[in-house]
Amino acid sequence: MHFDVLTLFPAILNGPLQASILKRAIDTGRLVVAVHNIRDYATDKHHVTDDVPYGGGGGMVMKPEPVFAAVGAVLANVPSARPPIILMTPQGRLFTQAVARELAQHERIVLICGRYEGVDERVSEHLASDEISIGDYVLSGGELAAMVITDAVVRLLPGVLGSELSAGDDSHTAGLLEYPQYTRPEVYRGWAVPEVLLSGNHAEINRWRHEQSLIRTLKRRPELLEKADLSAADQALIDSQR
Ligand code: 6GU
Repeated sequence: MHFDVLTLFPAILNGPLQASILKRAIDTGRLVVAVHNIRDYATDKHHVTDDVPYGGGGGMVMKPEPVFAAVGAVLANVPSARPPIILMTPQGRLFTQAVARELAQHERIVLICGRYEGVDERVSEHLASDEISIGDYVLSGGELAAMVITDAVVRLLPGVLGSELSAGDDSHTAGLLEYPQYTRPEVYRGWAVPEVLLSGNHAEINRWRHEQSLIRTLKRRPELLEKADLSAADQALIDSQR
């Protein structure tokens, strides 16, 4: 899979791409992240990328020309199928695991990182095909959000996680939070691992884990249960906990 990330601050992307899962995906050829500095596409002498807002008010607004030029240059080398061009903005649709699965279907994705008070609206109106926010808070720019999206999407690609099973039990995959995990030692500071996990009885373990997922989701994120696909037994367990 190929991501093109357009940014005024390429250095912000270095850390996330140079460790752990994303690094390995790049090293094994499953992922390409091409970082493009929007400033390189400003044509004036001082490479100006922002300006004061029409109508007044504080802050600066990203100019449209360098952003359109950067996307144009990136897509000039792309054959037919137009990749999604996603503007990273707190005003976008909310990023969820379902959106991650949707984006993982694309071979190529362009992410435009906004900065300052915003991006000239003509980028949203006439260039972006989608706008995404990673949550209801404001970041100084879209770069960290772009890395959140890249990470969440890339770990869904075949062969990226060590075990093909690893993503299946994750929180949110089935609309529930994940069950608690334990590793050695069996007793730590007097706190024992739940007995059932040592039993070797995989049917019992799976049942316990599923119940823990339901209970944890009920306690921490009850609103998720409204959309989850619950069996009659699941519903009975939840009712018994309320
Ligand atoms: Cl995508 N960008 C910015 N600047 N702030 C955000 C965001 C994106 N998602 C949540 N907050």
